[in-house]
Amino acid sequence: MIIQAQNVSYIYSEGGPFEKGALKDVSMTVESGAFIGIIGHTGSGKSTLVQHFNGLLRPTGGKVIVCGADTLDKKADLKTVRAKVGLVFQYPEHQLFAETVYKDIAFAPGNMGFSADETDAAVRESAALVGLSETLFEKSPFELSGGQKRRAAIAGVLAMRPQVLVLDEPTAGLDPRGREDILSQIKRLHAETGMTVILVSHGMEDIANCVDYLYVMDHGTIAMQGTPAEVYSRYERLEQMGLTAPQVTRLMKQRYGVDVCTVEQAKDYILGVLRRA
Ligand SMILES: Nc1ncnc2c1ncn2[C@@H]1O[C@H](COP(=O)(O)OP(=O)(O)O)[C@@H](O)[C@H]1O
Ligand SMILES: [Mg+2]
Repeated sequence: MIIQAQNVSYIYSEGGPFEKGALKDVSMTVESGAFIGIIGHTGSGKSTLVQHFNGLLRPTGGKVIVCGADTLDKKADLKTVRAKVGLVFQYPEHQLFAETVYKDIAFAPGNMGFSADETDAAVRESAALVGLSETLFEKSPFELSGGQKRRAAIAGVLAMRPQVLVLDEPTAGLDPRGREDILSQIKRLHAETGMTVILVSHGMEDIANCVDYLYVMDHGTIAMQGTPAEVYSRYERLEQMGLTAPQVTRLMKQRYGVDVCTVEQAKDYILGVLRRA
């Protein structure tokens, strides 16, 4: 396994007047090469959890092991952990700052001591992985469209050549077309590189047809886990947690009593029924 959280708790400002418990007894295991989803209502603890995966936050209870390193271990090399687990924050384009798109993507590898040639190769490769054209390299990041900015920010993290890519709500604030584009790029990236991917979302529609395994967070705990079909079949419970199952899941459950989470799966099922009839 590449990441393991064992009974993790996290309290913001512990002992202070604004103490806030954000995670309670969270355990999860991420195998190398997996595509994992984490969903949950706003405030359920998703961002707090994933910041533990690259050592940015360290548990106030329990422990997190990343690529063999216990992030609480004083001797753990957190710089290496941060390079192995690339975290793309929510609204990552707010962190674009360089004069050009190229320099922005080149920032992290340059900082990590890649040579100029290695950096150049990493920039071109990661731009290609997110579908960002090299013709945009000399533009200012501020001239890009919303979707292009998001891709540039993701490419900046990929350029470190991490083993794990964590994306915190990568489609937030994009229009449906932009959402679909980013998701299909992420799917392609996982398929082509075999990189471990952890995708966080506050909705369910987005990630049903990407991830192999899904964790549902509620009030700082893991409330449910399983394959998307297993999780989505319990949509009444999900709705109690403020999540809405895809329409197609509801419809297929009510009409046929089957668990599906994408229109594609519903089509296959109905075609099967028709064929047998
Ligand atoms: N820096 C912080 N200081 C104090 N409380 C915080 C901080 N960041 C998040 N929280 C609180 O921790 C809880 C979990 O937040 P978060 O991990 O951001 O959830 P999500 O990403 O699922 O929306 C929320 O109640 C939030 O208000
Ligand atoms: Mg969040």
